[in-house]
Amino acid sequence: MYAIEVEKLTKIYGKGETAVTAIADATFQVKPGELVAILGPSGSGKTTLLTSIGLINEPTHGKVVIDGANIADEGWIPGLDLKRIRREKLGFIFQAHNLIPFLTALENVMIALEINHLTKTEAKHRATELLISLNLGHRLNNYPTALSGGEAQRVAIARALANKPKVILADEPTAALDTENGKNVMALLKKLAVENHSAILVVTHDHRMVEGFDKIFEVRDGVIAQETKRDS
Ligand SMILES: Nc1ncnc2c1ncn2[C@@H]1O[C@H](COP(=O)(O)OP(=O)(O)O)[C@@H](O)[C@H]1O
Ligand SMILES: [Mg+2]
Repeated sequence: MYAIEVEKLTKIYGKGETAVTAIADATFQVKPGELVAILGPSGSGKTTLLTSIGLINEPTHGKVVIDGANIADEGWIPGLDLKRIRREKLGFIFQAHNLIPFLTALENVMIALEINHLTKTEAKHRATELLISLNLGHRLNNYPTALSGGEAQRVAIARALANKPKVILADEPTAALDTENGKNVMALLKKLAVENHSAILVVTHDHRMVEGFDKIFEVRDGVIAQETKRDS
Protein backbone atom coordinates (compact mmCIF):
# COMPACT_ATOMS: atom_id res chain seq x y z
CA MET A 1 0.00 0.00 0.00
CA TYR A 2 1.15 3.55 -0.70
CA ALA A 3 1.32 6.25 1.96
CA ILE A 4 0.28 8.90 -0.56
CA GLU A 5 -1.57 8.40 -3.84
CA VAL A 6 -2.37 11.43 -5.93
CA GLU A 7 -4.16 11.19 -9.26
CA LYS A 8 -4.68 14.16 -11.56
CA LEU A 9 -4.69 16.52 -8.60
CA THR A 10 -5.61 20.05 -9.65
CA LYS A 11 -6.01 23.13 -7.50
CA ILE A 12 -7.50 26.28 -8.98
CA TYR A 13 -7.75 29.42 -6.84
CA GLY A 14 -10.59 31.79 -7.68
CA LYS A 15 -13.02 31.68 -10.59
CA GLY A 16 -13.43 33.07 -14.08
CA GLU A 17 -10.86 35.49 -15.45
CA THR A 18 -8.88 35.76 -12.24
CA ALA A 19 -8.61 31.99 -11.71
CA VAL A 20 -5.10 30.71 -11.01
CA THR A 21 -4.25 27.07 -11.63
CA ALA A 22 -1.69 26.51 -8.89
CA ILE A 23 -1.39 22.72 -9.40
CA ALA A 24 -2.33 20.98 -12.63
CA ASP A 25 -2.89 17.25 -13.04
CA ALA A 26 -0.33 16.01 -10.53
CA THR A 27 -0.11 12.21 -10.46
CA PHE A 28 2.32 10.31 -8.24
CA GLN A 29 2.63 7.77 -5.43
CA VAL A 30 4.86 7.76 -2.37
CA LYS A 31 5.64 4.60 -0.42
CA PRO A 32 5.97 4.37 3.37
CA GLY A 33 9.50 5.36 4.37
CA GLU A 34 10.16 7.11 1.05
CA LEU A 35 11.77 10.58 1.06
CA VAL A 36 10.67 13.02 -1.61
CA ALA A 37 12.08 16.50 -2.13
CA ILE A 38 10.04 19.12 -3.97
CA LEU A 39 12.03 21.81 -5.73
CA GLY A 40 10.82 24.76 -7.76
CA PRO A 41 10.85 28.53 -7.99
CA SER A 42 8.71 30.81 -5.86
CA GLY A 43 5.07 30.72 -6.95
CA SER A 44 5.38 27.39 -8.77
CA GLY A 45 2.78 25.68 -6.56
CA LYS A 46 4.87 23.81 -3.97
CA THR A 47 2.93 25.00 -0.92
CA THR A 48 -0.36 24.40 -2.70
CA LEU A 49 0.72 20.84 -3.48
CA LEU A 50 1.46 20.17 0.20
CA THR A 51 -1.67 21.82 1.56
CA SER A 52 -3.89 20.09 -1.03
CA ILE A 53 -2.49 16.72 0.00
CA GLY A 54 -2.52 17.72 3.68
CA LEU A 55 -6.26 18.33 3.98
CA ILE A 56 -5.77 22.07 4.47
CA ASN A 57 -6.69 23.20 0.97
CA GLU A 58 -9.59 21.53 -0.86
CA PRO A 59 -8.49 20.10 -4.21
CA THR A 60 -10.52 21.32 -7.18
CA HIS A 61 -10.16 18.10 -9.17
CA GLY A 62 -8.53 14.73 -8.85
CA LYS A 63 -8.04 12.08 -6.21
CA VAL A 64 -6.02 11.99 -2.99
CA VAL A 65 -5.56 8.85 -0.89
CA ILE A 66 -3.60 9.05 2.38
CA ASP A 67 -2.58 5.81 4.07
CA GLY A 68 -5.43 3.95 2.38
CA ALA A 69 -8.08 6.55 3.24
CA ASN A 70 -9.84 8.28 0.33
CA ILE A 71 -9.66 11.99 1.06
CA ALA A 72 -10.59 13.70 -2.16
CA ASP A 73 -12.32 12.80 -5.40
CA GLU A 74 -13.37 15.94 -7.27
CA GLY A 75 -13.22 17.86 -3.96
CA TRP A 76 -13.14 16.47 -0.41
CA ILE A 77 -15.21 13.38 0.09
CA PRO A 78 -18.36 14.43 1.95
CA GLY A 79 -18.67 13.41 5.57
CA LEU A 80 -14.97 12.87 6.27
CA ASP A 81 -13.63 14.00 9.62
CA LEU A 82 -10.75 15.97 8.09
CA LYS A 83 -9.44 17.20 11.45
CA ARG A 84 -9.21 13.70 12.80
CA ILE A 85 -7.47 12.33 9.71
CA ARG A 86 -5.05 15.27 9.76
CA ARG A 87 -4.30 14.65 13.44
CA GLU A 88 -3.89 10.89 13.12
CA LYS A 89 -2.12 10.47 9.81
CA LEU A 90 -0.25 13.70 9.07
CA GLY A 91 2.63 15.66 10.55
CA PHE A 92 3.22 19.22 9.37
CA ILE A 93 6.41 21.27 9.61
CA PHE A 94 6.47 24.83 8.35
CA GLN A 95 9.19 27.34 7.60
CA ALA A 96 8.31 29.30 10.70
CA HIS A 97 8.15 26.77 13.49
CA ASN A 98 4.64 27.78 14.66
CA LEU A 99 5.29 26.78 18.26
CA ILE A 100 2.74 27.99 20.77
CA PRO A 101 4.50 30.92 22.49
CA PHE A 102 2.99 30.50 25.95
CA LEU A 103 3.85 26.80 26.21
CA THR A 104 7.29 25.38 26.99
CA ALA A 105 9.14 23.11 24.54
CA LEU A 106 7.89 20.09 26.48
CA GLU A 107 4.29 21.34 26.56
CA ASN A 108 4.35 22.12 22.84
CA VAL A 109 5.11 18.46 22.12
CA MET A 110 2.80 17.11 24.85
CA ILE A 111 -0.20 18.94 23.42
CA ALA A 112 0.09 17.03 20.13
CA LEU A 113 -0.01 13.76 22.06
CA GLU A 114 -2.83 14.78 24.39
CA ILE A 115 -4.97 15.78 21.40
CA ASN A 116 -4.55 12.19 20.28
CA HIS A 117 -5.85 10.93 23.62
CA LEU A 118 -2.69 10.06 25.50
CA THR A 119 -2.94 10.77 29.21
CA LYS A 120 -0.88 13.67 30.57
CA THR A 121 1.58 11.24 32.18
CA GLU A 122 2.02 9.22 28.97
CA ALA A 123 2.35 12.40 26.91
CA LYS A 124 4.97 13.82 29.26
CA HIS A 125 6.97 10.62 29.16
CA ARG A 126 6.94 10.32 25.37
CA ALA A 127 7.53 14.03 24.73
CA THR A 128 10.50 14.06 27.12
CA GLU A 129 12.01 11.00 25.48
CA LEU A 130 11.57 12.48 22.01
CA LEU A 131 13.08 15.85 22.93
CA ILE A 132 16.05 14.18 24.63
CA SER A 133 16.64 12.14 21.46
CA LEU A 134 16.75 15.44 19.54
CA ASN A 135 19.37 16.81 21.95
CA LEU A 136 16.89 19.13 23.59
CA GLY A 137 16.95 17.57 27.05
CA HIS A 138 18.29 20.81 28.51
CA ARG A 139 15.50 22.82 26.85
CA LEU A 140 12.38 21.03 28.09
CA ASN A 141 11.16 23.91 30.23
CA ASN A 142 12.17 26.77 27.97
CA TYR A 143 9.65 28.90 26.10
CA PRO A 144 10.05 29.27 22.30
CA THR A 145 11.52 32.79 22.57
CA ALA A 146 14.45 31.38 24.57
CA LEU A 147 15.31 28.82 21.86
CA SER A 148 17.63 29.31 18.91
CA GLY A 149 16.17 28.90 15.40
CA GLY A 150 17.58 25.41 15.07
CA GLU A 151 16.30 24.38 18.50
CA ALA A 152 12.82 25.73 17.83
CA GLN A 153 12.68 23.87 14.52
CA ARG A 154 13.74 20.66 16.27
CA VAL A 155 10.90 21.12 18.78
CA ALA A 156 8.53 21.62 15.83
CA ILE A 157 9.84 18.39 14.31
CA ALA A 158 9.32 16.58 17.60
CA ARG A 159 5.76 17.85 17.69
CA ALA A 160 5.06 16.86 14.08
CA LEU A 161 6.47 13.37 14.60
CA ALA A 162 5.14 12.73 18.10
CA ASN A 163 2.22 10.63 16.89
CA LYS A 164 4.32 8.77 14.33
CA PRO A 165 2.28 10.00 11.37
CA LYS A 166 2.28 7.95 8.19
CA VAL A 167 2.85 11.11 6.15
CA ILE A 168 5.08 14.08 6.98
CA LEU A 169 4.71 17.30 5.00
CA ALA A 170 7.43 19.90 5.47
CA ASP A 171 7.31 23.29 3.74
CA GLU A 172 10.81 24.81 3.57
CA PRO A 173 11.68 23.64 7.09
CA THR A 174 15.28 24.82 6.78
CA ALA A 175 14.68 28.20 5.13
CA ALA A 176 15.12 30.16 8.35
CA LEU A 177 18.28 28.30 9.38
CA ASP A 178 21.94 28.59 8.48
CA THR A 179 23.44 25.83 6.33
CA GLU A 180 24.78 23.74 9.18
CA ASN A 181 21.57 23.84 11.23
CA GLY A 182 19.59 23.30 8.03
CA LYS A 183 21.55 20.18 7.23
CA ASN A 184 21.16 18.90 10.80
CA VAL A 185 17.40 19.43 10.70
CA MET A 186 17.16 17.69 7.33
CA ALA A 187 19.27 14.75 8.50
CA LEU A 188 17.10 14.40 11.57
CA LEU A 189 13.92 14.49 9.54
CA LYS A 190 15.27 11.75 7.29
CA LYS A 191 16.38 9.58 10.20
CA LEU A 192 13.02 9.83 11.97
CA ALA A 193 11.05 9.26 8.78
CA VAL A 194 13.01 6.09 8.11
CA GLU A 195 12.70 4.88 11.71
CA ASN A 196 8.95 5.51 11.79
CA HIS A 197 8.49 4.27 8.22
CA SER A 198 6.79 7.55 7.34
CA ALA A 199 6.56 8.97 3.84
CA ILE A 200 7.97 12.45 3.72
CA LEU A 201 7.52 15.32 1.28
CA VAL A 202 9.89 18.22 1.85
CA VAL A 203 9.76 21.47 -0.06
CA THR A 204 13.12 23.17 -0.30
CA HIS A 205 14.81 25.90 -2.27
CA ASP A 206 18.20 24.53 -1.52
CA HIS A 207 19.66 21.80 -3.74
CA ARG A 208 22.29 21.07 -1.10
CA MET A 209 19.55 19.81 1.24
CA VAL A 210 18.32 16.93 -0.92
CA GLU A 211 21.21 14.54 -0.38
CA GLY A 212 19.96 11.04 0.33
CA PHE A 213 16.41 11.62 -0.86
CA ASP A 214 14.76 8.85 -2.87
CA LYS A 215 13.01 11.09 -5.38
CA ILE A 216 13.04 14.71 -6.46
CA PHE A 217 10.00 16.43 -7.95
CA GLU A 218 10.69 19.60 -9.91
CA VAL A 219 7.62 21.85 -9.99
CA ARG A 220 7.23 24.47 -12.72
CA ASP A 221 4.10 26.59 -13.08
CA GLY A 222 1.96 24.08 -11.22
CA VAL A 223 3.23 21.07 -13.15
CA ILE A 224 5.50 18.37 -11.80
CA ALA A 225 7.87 18.76 -14.70
CA GLN A 226 10.40 16.19 -13.71
CA GLU A 227 10.58 13.26 -11.37
CA THR A 228 14.10 12.11 -10.70
CA LYS A 229 14.57 8.72 -9.12
CA ARG A 230 17.72 8.03 -7.18
CA ASP A 231 19.43 4.77 -6.45
CA SER A 232 21.31 5.88 -3.35
N1 LIG B 1 -4.88 31.48 -1.28
C1 LIG B 1 -4.56 31.80 -2.52
N2 LIG B 1 -5.43 32.48 -3.32
C2 LIG B 1 -5.12 32.78 -4.59
N3 LIG B 1 -3.98 32.44 -5.20
C3 LIG B 1 -3.08 31.76 -4.47
C4 LIG B 1 -3.31 31.40 -3.11
N4 LIG B 1 -2.23 30.73 -2.65
C5 LIG B 1 -1.36 30.66 -3.68
N5 LIG B 1 -1.86 31.28 -4.76
C6 LIG B 1 -1.20 31.38 -6.09
O1 LIG B 1 -0.93 30.05 -6.54
C7 LIG B 1 0.35 29.97 -7.14
C8 LIG B 1 1.22 28.96 -6.38
O2 LIG B 1 1.48 29.46 -5.08
P1 LIG B 1 2.24 28.60 -3.96
O3 LIG B 1 1.62 27.25 -3.90
O4 LIG B 1 2.26 29.39 -2.72
O5 LIG B 1 3.69 28.47 -4.60
P2 LIG B 1 5.14 28.21 -3.91
O6 LIG B 1 4.89 27.57 -2.58
O7 LIG B 1 5.85 27.33 -4.89
O8 LIG B 1 5.80 29.54 -3.79
C9 LIG B 1 0.90 31.38 -7.15
O9 LIG B 1 0.60 31.97 -8.38
C10 LIG B 1 0.15 32.06 -6.02
O10 LIG B 1 0.05 33.43 -6.25
MG1 LIG C 1 5.54 28.13 -0.67
